[in-house]
Amino acid sequence: MDINWAELKTAAIKALENSYAPYSKFPVGVAALTDRGDVITGANVENASYGLGLCAECSLVSELFRTGGGKLVAFACVDKHGNELMPCGRCRQLLYEHRAPGMLLSTVSGIKTIDEVLPDAFGPDDLLERN
Ligand code: THU
Repeated sequence: MDINWAELKTAAIKALENSYAPYSKFPVGVAALTDRGDVITGANVENASYGLGLCAECSLVSELFRTGGGKLVAFACVDKHGNELMPCGRCRQLLYEHRAPGMLLSTVSGIKTIDEVLPDAFGPDDLLERN
């Protein structure tokens, strides 16, 4: 599947217009290409109870399921200047769960695979019985 990184980044920048980040004042926008060929987006949504804030990746994963499910093929995350951001550790785990094989991320150090940004990840397979 062809990945249009410029389109993903533009979608992520557009998504952060809908961020709710009155506490950190650090809006984040994300976008991903799914294996169904759709581009989905998300933005961070904070809370007066600070620890309850939702990262942009949380709304992206909700959007993935709201629009019919599937797997993530490519992902981009940006700050309000449109600069690439690394997904936080928790969000790498969130993305890992829903990755397509070989999922790619646009990062501060170039295009990386999900396995490069979350090596030796804990995942669904670790819950299988081992004999
Ligand atoms: N944030 C995200 O939305 N995604 C990340 O991967 C990194 C951090 C948000 C959380 C919080 O609303 C703001 O950035 C500042 O930490």
